[in-house]
Amino acid sequence: MIARISCSLLFFFCFVANADDSTVDSHVKQVGSPDGQILVTISDQGGLLSYSVSRNDKEVIQSSALGMRFAKHHGLDADLQIIKTELTSADATWEQPWGENRLVRDHHNRLRLTVQRKAPELNFHLVVKAFDDGIGFRYEVPKQRGLNSVEITEELTEFNMNQDATAWWIPARQWNRYEYLYNTTTVDEMEMAHTPVTMKLPNGTHVSLHEAALVNYSGMSIEHRRGANLVANLAPRADGGLVKLETPFVTPWRTIQIADDAPGLVNSNLILNLNEPNKMGDVSWFTPGKYIGIWWQQHIKDRTWGNDGIHAATTEATIEMMDFAAEHGFDGVLVEGWNIGWDGDWYNNGDVFSFTKSYDDFDIEKVAEHGRDVGVRLIGHHETSGNISNYENQIDGAFKLYQDNDVAIVKTGYVADAGKLKYIDKDGITRFEFHDGQENVKHHLRVVEKAAKHKIAINAHEPVKDTGLRRTYPNWVSREGARGQEFNAWGVPPNGPNHVSNLVYTRMLSGPMDYTAGAFDLRPSEREPITKEMGRHDKRSKIEHTLAKELSLYVTIYSPIQMAMDLAENYRARPQAFQFIKDVPADWEKSIALSGEVGEYLVIARQDRNTSDWYLAAHTNEQARTVSVSIDFLQEGDNYLAQIYRDGDNADYEKDPYDLVIEEHMVTSKQKLTFNLGRSGGAVVRLIKQSH
Ligand code: NOJ
Ligand code: CA
Repeated sequence: MIARISCSLLFFFCFVANADDSTVDSHVKQVGSPDGQILVTISDQGGLLSYSVSRNDKEVIQSSALGMRFAKHHGLDADLQIIKTELTSADATWEQPWGENRLVRDHHNRLRLTVQRKAPELNFHLVVKAFDDGIGFRYEVPKQRGLNSVEITEELTEFNMNQDATAWWIPARQWNRYEYLYNTTTVDEMEMAHTPVTMKLPNGTHVSLHEAALVNYSGMSIEHRRGANLVANLAPRADGGLVKLETPFVTPWRTIQIADDAPGLVNSNLILNLNEPNKMGDVSWFTPGKYIGIWWQQHIKDRTWGNDGIHAATTEATIEMMDFAAEHGFDGVLVEGWNIGWDGDWYNNGDVFSFTKSYDDFDIEKVAEHGRDVGVRLIGHHETSGNISNYENQIDGAFKLYQDNDVAIVKTGYVADAGKLKYIDKDGITRFEFHDGQENVKHHLRVVEKAAKHKIAINAHEPVKDTGLRRTYPNWVSREGARGQEFNAWGVPPNGPNHVSNLVYTRMLSGPMDYTAGAFDLRPSEREPITKEMGRHDKRSKIEHTLAKELSLYVTIYSPIQMAMDLAENYRARPQAFQFIKDVPADWEKSIALSGEVGEYLVIARQDRNTSDWYLAAHTNEQARTVSVSIDFLQEGDNYLAQIYRDGDNADYEKDPYDLVIEEHMVTSKQKLTFNLGRSGGAVVRLIKQSH
């Protein structure tokens, strides 16, 4: 049976119950996407549940197992039969309070199967949603006799791919969490990977494996076994097993985004569509915007977080930075290292951080008062160094202090190796958990919900991965969860010219990232050290982008809070380029990825949510290239002033990264714009609609 029901009343949630909810005896059930291109087939042949996915009759996922096993109960893994089928459809458009797109269309067909294990009798549901841009499925396990508390020991879900497909992936369960450079291999050569994993099949179809709505469950990595065989591998709990739950429960959605090309994946809204609607109600107290901070100076060793060098977070330095923010139109100033606990090796200071006591040279009330005078807010910071219990013990006072001092966004941090998040359980036993383990998944939501009570938004670093929960909890505004700009400061091999070309098609499919763009001094390690003792990092620290490419990141790497991460003196030195960062918005009406290839380049256009301006951006990897873009997304018949910031003729990330040309032209939607991008170069254009 293929679902072909569709219903297209914009803004109306339209659910059409299918007539067929009777017992069926065929072993195969099917559901198709609204456009009929994607087909999901579920089978209970031989008592084993499996699925496969095709698009335009071409295989995307080969027959792959479904089910799960428990520690002390029979599993949902054998002797299975589909006993009931329900098919429904929906077509609704919902609005994001902030985002890449204001309106999101959720158009899908849904197949809900009731599956029964015969002996002993156990029931569960497999729910599959088929959209035009991919599919999602999850298990729903109801409360039933013989199944109350469960410990999942194995999720059997497989994603059997073509083994020759190219995969872009970062390793999972390694010490540095999600902060790795991407590997490009065949599926056959993959190791255990974090999701999203992006793939290109030999026929050119692009696929991304991930999950949506990761709540009270362990994060799923993709384990490569052999050949084409990829299997869900859940982060283990410190107290044994993978996930502990009471019935009834639902798992996160296992997601497979499918598109003709790489930009098609960027344009997909599947992850958000599989999350629950906003549970927080009015979140207008969070406004997207841009910030600067006391941050880069610590990373490049100009200053220190603690009092064991030149302390960065002083009242005076913060006030000075607030004045700079006010002068240039920034909304916030992030301050790291104002609170007691940073001295010495702060990576290991999880037990000693105070979230309410400040160093003597930082007066939070005075700073907040100055902020009120100049119209700039402090952005708070809570580094936990991975001790989530120490943080939760202080969290009420910590958020209250911030709320009392006008802080509306808090950056959190979980610097600890993978599997080393310290958590004291309800029996007082100290456990060490994974960043994507069930306990940390729960911790993050507790923080987000607490923060909302204080009208505070959260930007988590070293977080659990994003699975679209910003739809349900719209104060969870951004996160890191990948290798960001900071690596370019540390004297370790920098991110390199192709990293962001990988990020935009992999990590960014999961949601906003606080990448912290805007480096204007691309060789910070070559500066004179502030003192001999402080020194500088190794000369390997550099930003391997052109200046135009750094500007383009404000459009290509989405976040509703965007940092201008460099020092004020570096922005003062290049006021014309800085104008772009001042102008670019952080909230969009609409976004359209126009062209690109994973790991190579991206061209994307976004429309400002608050004006009729459009922004167009492109960046490339280590290969120089020419991109030609039709700008037919502009309103037909209108004239636009194009303010262009592009690589000059000599721009090259190694030889001449500062060769930037800024120019203006009048354009209309009928034109094409052509850019010559230098090696690891970029271009970005502000298109301002002219009044008639
Ligand atoms: C790592 C974060 O990614 C970075 O932004 C922050 O400055 C340090 N931890 C200190 O919290
Ligand atoms: Ca980090």
